[in-house]
Amino acid sequence: MNNNILIIGASGQLGKYFVNLLSKDNNVIASDIIPNSTLDCQFQLLNILDYNSLKKTIKTNNINQIYNLAAILSAKGESFPYKTWILTTEGFLNVVKVSIECNVDRIFWPSSIAVFGLNSNLEHVLNDVPMLPSSMYGVSKLACEKLMNYYNSKKLLDIRSLRFPGIVSASKPGGGTTDYIVDMLYSALSGNEYKCFLDKDRILPMMHIDDSVQASIKLMNIDREKISINSPYNITSFNITPDSWRNIIDTLGYDLKVLFEKDFRDKIAQSWPRNIDDHLFRNDVGWKPKYDSKKTAKSIIDAINS
Ligand SMILES: NC(=O)c1ccc[n+]([C@@H]2O[C@H](COP(=O)([O-])OP(=O)(O)OC[C@H]3O[C@@H](n4cnc5c(N)ncnc54)[C@H](O)[C@@H]3O)[C@@H](O)[C@H]2O)c1
Repeated sequence: MNNNILIIGASGQLGKYFVNLLSKDNNVIASDIIPNSTLDCQFQLLNILDYNSLKKTIKTNNINQIYNLAAILSAKGESFPYKTWILTTEGFLNVVKVSIECNVDRIFWPSSIAVFGLNSNLEHVLNDVPMLPSSMYGVSKLACEKLMNYYNSKKLLDIRSLRFPGIVSASKPGGGTTDYIVDMLYSALSGNEYKCFLDKDRILPMMHIDDSVQASIKLMNIDREKISINSPYNITSFNITPDSWRNIIDTLGYDLKVLFEKDFRDKIAQSWPRNIDDHLFRNDVGWKPKYDSKKTAKSIIDAINS
C-alpha cells in the first residue's frame, strides 16, 4: 500500500468514485458528517469543522494524504451563504493547519468553475483571468484558491487542485447548478418528464466522473516540479446545452420530455464559462479526457442500469 489517505466529504456525489480508485493502491479512510455503509473502505463520521477530531483521525491513522471534498454546492449555497463560507474556508484552513502540524505530504482540494464571473471572458476562459464569482460557493472557493497559492508559494504545504466543471456520474448530485445533466438521465430511464431549471441553450462545460477522478489522482501522483502553478488548474471535457443533452439521450433510444422553466440557477450559470481552456493542465500533467458527450451519456446510463 502506497499511502494512508483520508477522504473528507466522502458521502457526496464524487466520494465513492475517489474511494474506488484510491483503494486499489492505498489505505483509504472515508469520512463525512453523513453516515455511509456503502463504501468499500473504512468509514468514520467526521466533521471537517471539528479540528480536534480531524487531528486525532490524522494522527491515529498516520495519514499522509488528504482529499478534501466537503462542500455545500453552488445552488444550495445560495440558501445558506454563511454556512457555505464557513464550511469552505474554515474547513480548508483546518486541513491546512492539521497538515502542517502532522506533516501531511499532499492535499487534494477541488475548486470549481464557479470561481469565474462575467469578467472572466466566458467564451474562452484561460487559467489565470479576472474573477468576480456570482455565488457564495464561488466566492468561498476563490478565497481558498488564494490561500492555496499562499501556502504553496511559501512551500509550507503541497496542495493540488482542479477547477471541476459539472460532473456527470451515476451518483446523484447534491445541489449544484449543473445537476440537470445527471437528473435528465434518471428521468429518461424512469420515463418521467423532466423540468429543467436552466435555459435550453445555456452552454456549460462538463466531464465524465471517471475522467475527473483519474485526472485528480494523476495530478496527485506526479512530481511537484512538473506542476507549473501554485493555484488550481482549469480542466474540461465537453461543452453542452440542456437541449443538446436531451437530443443525445434521444439518440440512445429514450423519448425524454423536457419542460424548460428557468429559475435562479440559470442566472448563476450565465456567469459561468461557456468554454474552458485547460491546455496548461494537459501540457503539465499529460492528460486528456476519454469521454465525449455521447460516450458519457451512454456510459452513465449503463452504470445507472447496472
Ligand atoms: N459535483 C460537481 O459537479 C462538482 C463540480 C465542481 C466542483 N466540485 C467539488 O468537488 C467536491 C465534491 O463534490 P460533490 O459533488 O461530491 O459534493 P456533494 O455536495 O455531493 O458532497 C459533499 C459532501 O460534503 C459533506 N459535508 C458537508 N459538510 C461537511 C462537514 N462539516 N464535514 C465533513 N463533510 C461535510 C456532505 O455531507 C456531502 O456528503 C466539492 O469540493 C465540490 O465543490 C463538484
